[in-house]
Amino acid sequence: MNRRRFIAGMTAAGLTGTASAFSFFGLFGDDEPTAVELYPRRPLKASRRAFSVDESPTDEADAIGYTNFYEFGTEKGDAQRYGERFKPEPWRLTIDGECERPGDYTLEDILKPHPLEERIYRLRCVETWSMVIPWVGFPLADLLKRFAPTSRAKYVAFETLYDPEQMPGQRRAVVEWPYREGLRMDEAMHPLTLIAVGMYGETLPVQNGAPLRLVVPWKYGFKSIKSIVRIHFSEKLPVTTWNQLQPDEYGFYANVNPAVDHPRWSQARERPVGGWRRRDTLPFNGYAEEVAHLYHGMDLAKYF
Ligand code: MTE
Repeated sequence: MNRRRFIAGMTAAGLTGTASAFSFFGLFGDDEPTAVELYPRRPLKASRRAFSVDESPTDEADAIGYTNFYEFGTEKGDAQRYGERFKPEPWRLTIDGECERPGDYTLEDILKPHPLEERIYRLRCVETWSMVIPWVGFPLADLLKRFAPTSRAKYVAFETLYDPEQMPGQRRAVVEWPYREGLRMDEAMHPLTLIAVGMYGETLPVQNGAPLRLVVPWKYGFKSIKSIVRIHFSEKLPVTTWNQLQPDEYGFYANVNPAVDHPRWSQARERPVGGWRRRDTLPFNGYAEEVAHLYHGMDLAKYF
């Protein structure tokens, strides 16, 4: 099989079923994985492997095929179908808000000082599927420190590119564009929080958030915003896309929590994409030892 461009007819086991017409989360988008590479990926060298789980990664064809990227459409695989105009290069990022060194930076400026690491992380989507992905990236903390956030910076907000020419799903107001996410400053500075530029040893495919995205492994996947163009330090809790759309269903924190169900479905178990067996979902997606202290004393059913 040509690894560079294959449309997988392979249906991930356990994902077969009827596709839903309703397009918001909860419709477990049972479409088949569509593992297309729209833009040439380059090999990346990671200098070390850190914080990795001891589990076999999801098959790459599934991880790059079974994707959510609403900027291209609400169905799994829409980025692969409608992403041919998307250009991850050249790319710029704006850094602004409560920091001493705001500015407009090229992707090269952003990436240059950071040695790349491989991190094999669990990913748990709020829709109940899960994956294990070998990301390539570097700690978000190392990037944020370069801009010298001030003491007023309590949160970090992120935005995805808004350009309906490149991202045709943005012609429909399914969410208020641009897609926005945010973290509390201590979450953003946590060593597990990653800026990913690659996966499976190569640069990110368009559908997984090229050229750079966030990865927060203990939170539901929607926090891990793709194709970032702006990072904003803020004193106030930032507006985030899913919370804005359905605040009773998607909280700002979105920590993976099997004990707190989504109003429309249970979060107790998950379906590993490409696997046969469902399994129990773990508190903080298995990262409780590393991150539970960040939420000490908080009622996690209230701050979900
Ligand atoms: N980022 C943007 N900009 N737009 C999106 O639609 N989907 C989110 C998240 N980041 C999304 C996004 C959701 S719902 C999930 S589960 C993860 O990306 C999926 O990442 P993956 O497709 O690389 O597995």
